[in-house]
Amino acid sequence: MSAAVAANRAILVVLPGDGVGPEVTGEARRVLEWFDKRRGLSFDVRDRVIGVASYRKSGRLLTDETLSDIMAADAVLFGAQGGPDYDDIPVKARREGGLLRLRRELGLYANLRPVKAIPALADVSPLKPEVTRGVDLLVLRELTGGVYFGEPRGIERLADGSERGVNTQVYTTGEIQRIGRVAFALARRRRGAVCSVEKSNVMESGALWRRVMQDLHDSEFTDVKLSHMYADNCAMQLILAPRQFDVVVTDNLFGDLLSDAAGSIMGSLGMLPSASLNGLDGQGRRRALYEPVHGSAPDIAGRGIANPLAAIMSLAMAFRHSFARDSDADLIDAAVGNVIAAGVRTKDIAASGTKAVSTSGMGDAVIAELQRLNDQGR
Ligand code: IPM
Ligand code: MG
Repeated sequence: MSAAVAANRAILVVLPGDGVGPEVTGEARRVLEWFDKRRGLSFDVRDRVIGVASYRKSGRLLTDETLSDIMAADAVLFGAQGGPDYDDIPVKARREGGLLRLRRELGLYANLRPVKAIPALADVSPLKPEVTRGVDLLVLRELTGGVYFGEPRGIERLADGSERGVNTQVYTTGEIQRIGRVAFALARRRRGAVCSVEKSNVMESGALWRRVMQDLHDSEFTDVKLSHMYADNCAMQLILAPRQFDVVVTDNLFGDLLSDAAGSIMGSLGMLPSASLNGLDGQGRRRALYEPVHGSAPDIAGRGIANPLAAIMSLAMAFRHSFARDSDADLIDAAVGNVIAAGVRTKDIAASGTKAVSTSGMGDAVIAELQRLNDQGR
């Protein structure tokens, strides 16, 4: 292949990160290799280092070279970041090399966290099967604004010697409209309903959020059904009656909380993938980062028992949202569904007393199923 052609190929950067990150992305990486061999990939894969592994080598959690590789990529497959090793890393270095900086630098304002009940896993969730049956919702979390980044922030010393911790919840019209447009557009491709979540009863930023969402709906998206809900009520509704939701759009902090709450529907965070996207640029390209929702899980790291399915399904989301390979994404989702239906379980989704497979055992099962579906002509 000529260099010119190679230079045009899209790039996926893989960043395993900390904790169970390397184990679960390792399995997603094997799935990628399977696709490369059996169905051909239209993009290049580059492995890069972030997190504690990078810090030990260079004193930086995220080096400038890695950041520029990430900025040049079409998509990033991210494992996880965090864990007890961070206690010894100075706050400044943590800020410079953290996931939050990456989200901000890449402008990944739209975080998609889908939750779709899998019938064969109904007994894993602590919620009753009649509550979780048929749940298919998407938490759309605003990811680059709000209290995560608002200024002023900090811990200051007061005259009496005590301290004051400050963070600022802040949203502008533009930020709300931007995430609102994504919510309505996603709803149009789903069941056509958006529930916008805030605390407009207490917070000015929430009152603005509600008004801007309603105006945007009334002027551009009247074909979509819009409802509003307070965040505390939403937390309860997600547990009591989750089937009522299609797209839930909310701010950065509420989205963090509510996506974990929604995770209880699945019973394990090990089953939740996510995509973080920015808008399309002039060339029709967008930046994107795909990561399992579960985080670094230091308590089980290095033991080969983490569930790689969230990482593998995050790869499916990358196929869908970054590489226009919907049929490959469908194939992954089908393989994962069949493997679960066949009773293959990592520890987090195994009924107590039953035998669980390892992280790589689950990867083996998914790859064998991909092969079987592929041979059937799917
Ligand atoms: C998440 C995580 C992160 C967040 C942490 C690790 C900073 O909880 O992605 O949900 O709070 O956004
Ligand atoms: Mg979280």
